[in-house]
Amino acid sequence: MSEEVFLIQGGNSLSGELKVEASKNAYLPILASTILCDGNIEFLNVPDFSDIENMCEILKVLNVKIKRENNFLSVNTDSVVNAKISHELTAKLRASIFLLGALLGRFRQAVISYPGGCKIGTRPIDIHLKAFRSLGVKIVEKHGYIYCNAGNMKAGKVVFPSVSVGATESLMMCAALLEGETILYNVAKEPEIKELERFLNQMGAKIRGSGTDTIRITGVKKLTGGEFSVFPDRIIAGTYLILGSLCGKNLHISNFKKEDNEFLLNILKETACDFKLKNDNIIVTAQKRNPSYKFVETLPFPSFPTDLQPQFMVMETLAKGTSVIKENLFENRFNQTMELTKMGADILVKDRLAIISGVEKLFGADVYASDLRAGAGLVIAGLMAEGYTTLHNIHFIDRGYERLEEKLKGVGADIKRVQIE
Ligand code: EPZ
Repeated sequence: MSEEVFLIQGGNSLSGELKVEASKNAYLPILASTILCDGNIEFLNVPDFSDIENMCEILKVLNVKIKRENNFLSVNTDSVVNAKISHELTAKLRASIFLLGALLGRFRQAVISYPGGCKIGTRPIDIHLKAFRSLGVKIVEKHGYIYCNAGNMKAGKVVFPSVSVGATESLMMCAALLEGETILYNVAKEPEIKELERFLNQMGAKIRGSGTDTIRITGVKKLTGGEFSVFPDRIIAGTYLILGSLCGKNLHISNFKKEDNEFLLNILKETACDFKLKNDNIIVTAQKRNPSYKFVETLPFPSFPTDLQPQFMVMETLAKGTSVIKENLFENRFNQTMELTKMGADILVKDRLAIISGVEKLFGADVYASDLRAGAGLVIAGLMAEGYTTLHNIHFIDRGYERLEEKLKGVGADIKRVQIE
């Protein structure tokens, strides 16, 4: 069976410009929420990520009309129908769960299979379902499907037991067209939630409070169409920034939103990385060898993001000294460790802790991406390693990075996508 892999030869310095694409994790809920709107919606900066393509495939099953030309995507929901969403469709991405909130908002009924996505932990959806139930949605879970009836759904108060990005977004969608005021307490504060609020409000919704602990949604009768562009992806930006801190030589990262990457920037300041910020641009030059950053733990925004943890682990692998990472969000998010060890890293994992003793060098090896961000981390490791790395399972990377090898080649990296038997 043939397979696409990245062949990487490490050791090059990177210079030139890398432009950050629009945010995957903002686009996914926004695309799902188009079901709530009437008329035409035109998105102007849609990146070529396979997760976005898979979300569009599900929308097409609901008879949403989608036209795509390069980064332009138009969505028309005039003939949207309420169809059962099969496991075959939901298995491809976690974000399929957003369809549940959107369908309940529009049709007051939905049948959907459990979401799939990157295997970084058990990733339950109990918080979403409990919140729907608290507004009066009747839910039956049977034979791998979730049957929801929101005939008696009423606006009200929802108190999330713990912070969930997806559950916050699900409830924003389901309440946007619900008569009365719905108040969500203990919500996630991720920038992608602000972006969903901005989109829905631009289409006529009345939502306020994103970025704080409480979101208030006053239901409206109808949402319209319009034109929209999504903000830059903070995880791609962070990935490029980590790469620049290791092998950048005046590496220019454009379309960079400083306020969404403050935590990482502060770490880089402390580890003496050389960077210059100007408006939406940052220019990074690597130092000889960064000192290690003693301890970081992944937590909801504005703390350190779990989606940058594997890339950060690579940075610490090459730092001078020992560092500890605590992964609080997902129980299987140290999957890259084994692969980095093959490349010469010295990492000890104990439950939620990874203890990293920095090494001077990594060596190229045959390694496997287990998920999207672990894959991004291994690309960085390959670019820093001596010799050749063959990186397998790169379809994971295509979920949230657009032709990464071409972008990196453009700034001097020796990386290519090849088909092997
Ligand atoms: C979003 O996932 C992102 N995905 C993830 O990005 C990101 O890692 C995560 O938020 C955390 O920042 C999208 O936006 C599409 P959560 P989500 O609900 O919404 C637990 C990437 O690489 N939980 O905030 O699924 C959960 O297990 C991806 O781009 C429950 O227990 O994350 C986790 O420990 C991967 N029950 C914590 O809450 C629930 O019902 C936070 O998860 C929901 C979540």
